[in-house]
Amino acid sequence: MKNVLKMLGAIALVAIVVFTACKKDEEVVPPTLYERLGGVSAISAVVDQFIVNVVGDPVINAQFAATAADPYRAQLLRNNLIDQICAGSGGPCQYKGKNMKEAHKGMAITEEQFNALVGDLVAALDKFNVPQQEKDDLLAILGPMKSDIVGQ
Ligand code: HEM
Repeated sequence: MKNVLKMLGAIALVAIVVFTACKKDEEVVPPTLYERLGGVSAISAVVDQFIVNVVGDPVINAQFAATAADPYRAQLLRNNLIDQICAGSGGPCQYKGKNMKEAHKGMAITEEQFNALVGDLVAALDKFNVPQQEKDDLLAILGPMKSDIVGQ
């Protein structure tokens, strides 16, 4: 009888240790930026607002006039932007567009124009109340692309 109790005690102990370890594992996996942004539907909503902001931004909208006037090009850019943000933030999408150097070649984009576009993105994120941490994390992904975009 004593041995049976001992055995049950040992089994209970092992069960508690395993349960605690598993629980801890679940707790330490932090959500990706993609998840924190709200997934592809939230990213799509931000990109749509971002495009509205860009088209209304006198600092850069001339650069996008030909794209905005062509529904196929406009749709392609939208999809590429969604995929780029989705993939870059750890989501399940695959970016299939050109790399940033190739995409902006010959456009002679200035730093002022780059900052204007980032401002339009921040305004879109603000419209959907995306928290500061997520805004910072997203801009930290896009910021380093600057040298491949400006002055090409
Ligand atoms: C962080 C900043 C930027 C990002 C992440 C970005 C991203 C992109 C992406 C993903 C594409 C599509 C590439 C493809 O067609 O395969 C693109 C194209 C383009 N970008 Fe940017 N871009 C940025 C800044 C800018 C700026 C500052 C301008 C101009 C002021 C600009 C103007 C354009 C134009 C005109 C196109 C071509 C659209 C078309 O094919 O019709 N981009 N960009």
